[in-house]
Amino acid sequence: MANDLAGAIHPNCGHRLTIPPWLLLYEGVQRNVVSIADLDAAEIVAILNHSDRYWSLADEPIKKLTSLRGRTVINLFFESSTRTRTSFELAAKRLSAEAINISSAASSTTKGETLIDTARNLQSMHPDAIVVRHSFGGAAAVLASCVKAAVINAGDGQHEHPTQALLDAATIRRHKGSIAGLEVVIVGDIAHSRVARSNILCLAKLGARIRVCAPWTLLPRGIEEIGGALTRERVRVVTRLEDGLDGADVVMMLRVQSERFAGEACRFPNTRELSRTFGLSERTLAFAKPDAIVMHPGPMNRGVEISPQVADGPRAVILQQVSWGVAVRMAVLERAILGDAA
Ligand code: CP
Repeated sequence: MANDLAGAIHPNCGHRLTIPPWLLLYEGVQRNVVSIADLDAAEIVAILNHSDRYWSLADEPIKKLTSLRGRTVINLFFESSTRTRTSFELAAKRLSAEAINISSAASSTTKGETLIDTARNLQSMHPDAIVVRHSFGGAAAVLASCVKAAVINAGDGQHEHPTQALLDAATIRRHKGSIAGLEVVIVGDIAHSRVARSNILCLAKLGARIRVCAPWTLLPRGIEEIGGALTRERVRVVTRLEDGLDGADVVMMLRVQSERFAGEACRFPNTRELSRTFGLSERTLAFAKPDAIVMHPGPMNRGVEISPQVADGPRAVILQQVSWGVAVRMAVLERAILGDAA
């Protein structure tokens, strides 16, 4: 499939796809979480409010609720993951669902089975939800078009990582009270980042102003346009770190996703140079507001995009993002499986 379709361009984001662009026009049912683009601000806020019920569950000795008892969630991961896969599994188990994990190495795709055939076979076992991570942008939309189970996108290529954006919004909201009016800067490899795309859409819908900050070689052309007029108005491209950080309320750092451009021409001289010009250190963080929080979706490359002092410092909320991600994924799973009854 990849070879036939390589080179197709996403109609909005302009990044390379490996599935036909028409599939991205697929209108998912409400229960699927394929893309932040499918959710309006009210739906995003409803998920964040729903997740507020579960923040404190992590502090309880017994972290078990029963709302999804008897339900089945399949975690279908074709790319490596530490946070997202574990967090979805924990979220399902904390709601008493059966959680089944399938990795690419252990799936029959290694024997030539297509993603669609894999999905149809899984559907035949009647799961309630399938959580999917795949290196092809649009893989979650493909699945959603051919299974009855609710589909949740756990990251598809360079397209989107919607639950990361939801947990990031939840973390910002808990620290800052609200998101509207905040200045958020996203620094790093914007070109290859599904986290950046989902966050731009999510934060713009919630009323923040977003700066994307990177060297030109790591900025996709037209990134300000991915949400149409809304993001054209709210997103600003900045190519000097100090300008990006100036007066920011939230600093979101991204690693260079070199696995997504292996074999291409170099985008920057070397990681040392990139770190010197776009790395977040105690010196550069001083350009942001004194109460600015520092976020990172992980995995972090310490000493490249972020210094260890900042990553472990008092303004970093990076591990809170991980903790609170479980609450957000509990809300997402309940919404996906129970719908309005959640
Ligand atoms: N943030 C994130 O998606 O991390 P993982 O790749 O570990 O799931």
